[in-house]
Amino acid sequence: RTFNVILSGGVGSRLWPLSRKSKPKQYLPIFEGQTLFQKTVLRNKSFCDELIVVGNSDNYGLSRTDLTNAGINTYSEIIEACPRNTAAAIAFAAFAVDPNEILFVTPSDHLIHADEHYASAVSRAMQLAGEGFIVTFGLKPTKPETGYGYIESDGEDVKSFREKPDLTTALGFLERGNFYWNSGMFCFKAGVYLKELQEFEPEVFLAAKEAYENSESGKLDYTLSMRIPSISVDYAVMERTNKIKVVPSLFQWSDMGSFESIYEYLEQTGHPKDELGNMVIGTSIHTEFTGLTNTILIQTPDAILVLRKENAQEVKKVYERLEKEH
Ligand code: GDD
Ligand code: MG
Repeated sequence: RTFNVILSGGVGSRLWPLSRKSKPKQYLPIFEGQTLFQKTVLRNKSFCDELIVVGNSDNYGLSRTDLTNAGINTYSEIIEACPRNTAAAIAFAAFAVDPNEILFVTPSDHLIHADEHYASAVSRAMQLAGEGFIVTFGLKPTKPETGYGYIESDGEDVKSFREKPDLTTALGFLERGNFYWNSGMFCFKAGVYLKELQEFEPEVFLAAKEAYENSESGKLDYTLSMRIPSISVDYAVMERTNKIKVVPSLFQWSDMGSFESIYEYLEQTGHPKDELGNMVIGTSIHTEFTGLTNTILIQTPDAILVLRKENAQEVKKVYERLEKEH
């Protein structure tokens, strides 16, 4: 069987104040009336036999509502007591199924055009996963984005995987030409993933196993979960495994991970901006910009954020500081 594993644990800190702990970005119904979470489930439904939602105790209610509204009634849930990052989140799903079953792991916060390019990439990935590979999806990079992983490829073979390089390194990758962006979706047999995790991050493997085995009706134990080292699947497994493959992909993809990507999406869909590239999100109050370029103003009922588009990754720091202060 094949399982779509939806990761829905992040708080979307780079989209504060639009995205909040109480309503992370994947649950905002701002994409043609649907949420990114719903779009993800519906997009992958035809490729998978079953659905596993890995979320946390703060957001599983939001996931349930979204699923009901999308007409999806059969799925299983894994409810994390606290976010321990993606290496562990994927491990929980892998522990829940047989080692030979195929997991198609997808983030819940991407906008993807599910056309024939998407269909052929997913079926190729499932085929390679069936052969025992850990499969990534490679997208053609268009800028030296430092918030993504990069895949150095030779066709479907992967020479190296480099998570979140600094700007100079990313520029070098773009120049060399044989680098893809990692889409953030993965496909592999549950057992293959767990074996690699156990080899490269034995502490994550053991602590995640213990937390999973002591879960009650899908809910993980808090104290045991806190013992799991927080590391993403990219650093834990993708940068190290030699079972990795890439499916070079042509589908349209956008990571709604920062205001820069939201800006680009809105720009393409006709949202207004002035001639110097300044944009307002979240309010229809008349706004003027003087002496500013590529600036984004975001207003919500209780907070305003003003940033330069280029500094979109830094919003995470603002969020973290506010978290500490409160
Ligand atoms: N359940 C669960 N638990 N989900 C989590 C957790 C967790 O602790 N932490 C993150 N997630 C979810 C997020 O909600 C998101 O859907 C997905 O896992 C990926 O996490 P991000 O935090 O968004 O990762 P990233 O954007 O920094 O980087 C990843 O995605 C890029 C493309 O968007 C990497 O895979 C990069 O290599 C990739 O380029
Ligand atoms: Mg992301």
